[in-house]
Amino acid sequence: MSITPVPRVGVIVVAAGSGTRLAAGAPKAFVGIDGRSILRHALDGVFSAPAAQVVVVAPRDREGDALSEALAAAGDRRDLVSVVTGGETRQASVAAGLAALWADVDTVLVHDAARALTPPEVFERVIAAVEGGAAGAVPVLPVVDTLKRVAGDEIVAAVDRAELASAQTPQGFRRDVLDAAYAAAVTDFTDDAALVADAGHAVAAVAGHPLAFKITGPSDLDRARHLLTQPGARARVGLENPPVAPRVGVGTDVHAFGGEGALWLAGLEWPDETPLSGHSDGDAVAHAIVDALLAAAGLGDIGTHFGTDHPEYAGAHADAFLTRTVALLGEAGWRIGNVSVQVQANRPRFSARRAEAERALSAALGGAPVSVSATTTDGLGFTGNGEGVSAFAVALVVPA
Ligand code: CTP
Ligand code: MG
Repeated sequence: MSITPVPRVGVIVVAAGSGTRLAAGAPKAFVGIDGRSILRHALDGVFSAPAAQVVVVAPRDREGDALSEALAAAGDRRDLVSVVTGGETRQASVAAGLAALWADVDTVLVHDAARALTPPEVFERVIAAVEGGAAGAVPVLPVVDTLKRVAGDEIVAAVDRAELASAQTPQGFRRDVLDAAYAAAVTDFTDDAALVADAGHAVAAVAGHPLAFKITGPSDLDRARHLLTQPGARARVGLENPPVAPRVGVGTDVHAFGGEGALWLAGLEWPDETPLSGHSDGDAVAHAIVDALLAAAGLGDIGTHFGTDHPEYAGAHADAFLTRTVALLGEAGWRIGNVSVQVQANRPRFSARRAEAERALSAALGGAPVSVSATTTDGLGFTGNGEGVSAFAVALVVPA
């Protein structure tokens, strides 16, 4: 039996921020770039670098989601992963991560999940600098713009940009230095290097990388999405080529006749028909479409997002389910190519309202094309003897 040595390097991935400036409706770490979240991309980079203990610092109540992402990124090194809950500030989140490091770790890297596309080579340079004797090391990029000192709306001085650099992460430190600096810190610093410098240590600069930019606002997310369609950028961050391909998913649903009120099917109300029973309105067509879309995007199934533990969907109609599904796909970086759905039922007769159903479903899906077809089953089975309806959907999703 081979014994895997305990790593001497620990990487704290801070992902507990709310992403106020990105304003994507979810904590920033869980916002999708392509089919993968910001956190997942960041962790893919971490696990492409030399083996290290990896502590993910997650927003409160999202620890389970963070663990799933970390385990997916870890491959066969799941033993290296742990998740802790973050704090109110980035500094508090880093402190929570520090507390979870194993005793054997003597080099600590602190990395922003928001720098999702940081290539493994940056981790290697930072680790090499600290292992080579530096108390701390920060990846930096030269400043390219001409810089001015301003007071209000007046330029008061030129600033020599040769003296300046912009700092990135991962920032690496000797563990004893970082522990002591955190223990002594009484104010909030903008990054770990500032905190360590304030404690009196010299911090080395190593070469950063343009792909290590921080996703802060919507334009940064657009930039990350665009870069991931470029084979060169994908290769640098350790992803296979070509870019994420379209994906298909299937979904089916069955509901029995026998509910209360009017029949709702394919997003339409059918006033003179027998209603279907179900937790919501029993719209098997809409539910099959939701399942197909979620499956295509790899986001679980209808029970994951709309189960009976979501009382707000009791009695809801197709548009509520479909609108929310489009939002879930968007968060994960997908848009809908098209949807095709077939209903098997004796009643209602779709021929007169088929186009209307397609328009209603398409509108609820943000305009994506939807084809509806309907058939009877020659008197066979539960649909043939009029006990209920079934629906089969196929959906195509493409990277947003
Ligand atoms: N971070 C954290 N805990 C906090 C605040 C920030 O772990 N209390 C993390 C973020 O998740 C991010 C990194 O620190 O990976 C850099 O912070 P920033 O880019 O500012 O992210 P947010 O604070 O989430 O964004 P915003 O400031 O727009 O709300
Ligand atoms: Mg912030």
